[in-house]
Amino acid sequence: MPYARCGVPAVRGAPVDGRGRPRVGDGVIGSPPAFGAVQSRFESESPSAALVVRQRRSVIAQETSVDAPPAVAAVVVLAAGQGTRMRSSTPKVLHALGGRSLLGHVLAAAGPLGAATTVVVVGSGRDQVEAHLADVAPGALAVVQEQQLGSGHAAVVALAAVPEVEGAVLVLNGDSPLLTTRTLETLVAAHVAAGSVFTVLTASVDDPTGLGRIVRDDRGAPQAIVEERDATDEQRAIREVNAGVYVADAATLRRVLAGIGTSNAQGEQYLTDALAPLVAEGAPTAAVRADDPDDVLGCNDRKELAARRRTLNDRVLDDLMRSGVTVVDPQTTWVDVTCTVSADSVLEPGTQLRGSTTVDTGAVVGPDTTLLDTAVGPGASVVRSHCLGAEIGPEASVGPFSYLRPGTRLARGAKVGAYVETKNVQVGEDSKVPHLSYVGDATIGRGTNIGAATVFVNYDGVAKHHTTVGDHVRIGSDSMLVAPVTVGDGAYTAAGSVITSDVPPGAMAVARAPQRNVGGWVRRRRPGSPAADAAEAAERRAEAPAGGRAEASGADSDQ
Ligand code: UD1
Ligand code: CA
Repeated sequence: MPYARCGVPAVRGAPVDGRGRPRVGDGVIGSPPAFGAVQSRFESESPSAALVVRQRRSVIAQETSVDAPPAVAAVVVLAAGQGTRMRSSTPKVLHALGGRSLLGHVLAAAGPLGAATTVVVVGSGRDQVEAHLADVAPGALAVVQEQQLGSGHAAVVALAAVPEVEGAVLVLNGDSPLLTTRTLETLVAAHVAAGSVFTVLTASVDDPTGLGRIVRDDRGAPQAIVEERDATDEQRAIREVNAGVYVADAATLRRVLAGIGTSNAQGEQYLTDALAPLVAEGAPTAAVRADDPDDVLGCNDRKELAARRRTLNDRVLDDLMRSGVTVVDPQTTWVDVTCTVSADSVLEPGTQLRGSTTVDTGAVVGPDTTLLDTAVGPGASVVRSHCLGAEIGPEASVGPFSYLRPGTRLARGAKVGAYVETKNVQVGEDSKVPHLSYVGDATIGRGTNIGAATVFVNYDGVAKHHTTVGDHVRIGSDSMLVAPVTVGDGAYTAAGSVITSDVPPGAMAVARAPQRNVGGWVRRRRPGSPAADAAEAAERRAEAPAGGRAEASGADSDQ
């Protein structure tokens, strides 16, 4: 690439491992791909919602205790439920927000805990969920729950698949995309500190509708988790709810789950029913409130999905603004958690940054711009444009109304202007494609100007071919450069030329029919038309004596 890519700092200083790689979600989600690797997805497949979760870097950096041994032996994610309320052919946990799937967010939050084993319980739409897992968390073990008999049954199935696991296990619903690593670490720390065998994460919320309630005794000790459908009126008034996140001793959980029944409104084995019997036998248990109740919010339908997306976005933008990014209109600016935006850049209204997009210092993006897997260099500007898999160099300028497709690389100071589409092209330093052009499969040198309405004719109907344009070239407006073809350094092409052969350095290539003027054609062939009248008047003026024209502009114009 034409410029060195800066080590763009993640917004809250993403933690790095010993070799300097971002540690966020490592082990589960994987490490960020080199920029070049990002291109490959476009070569092999078309973008889709499922793909965005492949992007690894997060602006929501999550702190973790590096050197201590993992506090949890295993992470179990429950993701087999059908998600009926989404009314979707896509399994619920694969619905995307903020650059990851629901499941991807949960895995990213749990990843830094460093558990040696990660189990994901799959069932509904399991082929899709397994394929997704292979992509975002290849180290995770997918365990099939054939029938969705409840969250407790799902946990039983998961633990049966890893009989060797002992000690603390973290069990979490797969539909809580706002969970943070910090909250999980706090929960685990509290579990350990209390010597608990079963600890549930809770939150006090304004509207507990649909959620399990936390029943505590007079001294505040947790007694039971009661699902809303099974709750008394008095219990329904409780506003402390179950987050669907638990830390438990593996052996204890196996034992107690073996004994839970299905005598509830849904006829399911509830994981939540593990608490009461443990309390009854006097085992140490705990319930820990999350600092931010948003953390625990699940996602059961599309309305909640939109609400979670908004909350997630607000968090990302708050982080960005705190770190020195100007976000002109947070309501219309959307940034995936996987993007990196540096201080002193500006995001104008209507900006969407997705995937592995990076925006460097001093850059201005928007208004009304979408960037997917695109790197914007320092001081660059991108206005009202749509860019996919592009690299926009320092001080480069894009838009308004440009469409940059994968493999577009603009060097320092390059310009792609209005109504220009580019694909798989390198544009050299200070070169310009200012107006109304298509540039595909090409290398353009430095200081070159591509005239308005030029088309790089790269496709012969079967195969794509490459065009090479040298340094300080002037391509005339409305040129067709029929690939494969090379235009040498310092060459010109005449406007309207169809260039099918190489142009040597410094030559002027003219490839168009010479002009022929057929005199008097309009008067003969279009007599009496306004054009003919105008032509006759012009001819009369031309024939009039030299001084006559000035007089004609006076009172008497009738000659
Ligand atoms: C669950 C809790 C509820 C809590 C809420 C938090 C139970 C019984 N209730 O309710 O107390 O307040 O989460 O959001 O757990 N799943 C399976 N297999 C199954 C059933 C469910 O894997 O057979 C998975 C689902 O994919 C989901 C999770 O378990 O990720 C929870 O199931 P869901 O139906 O969403 O439970 P909620 O009604 O939300
Ligand atoms: Ca749920």
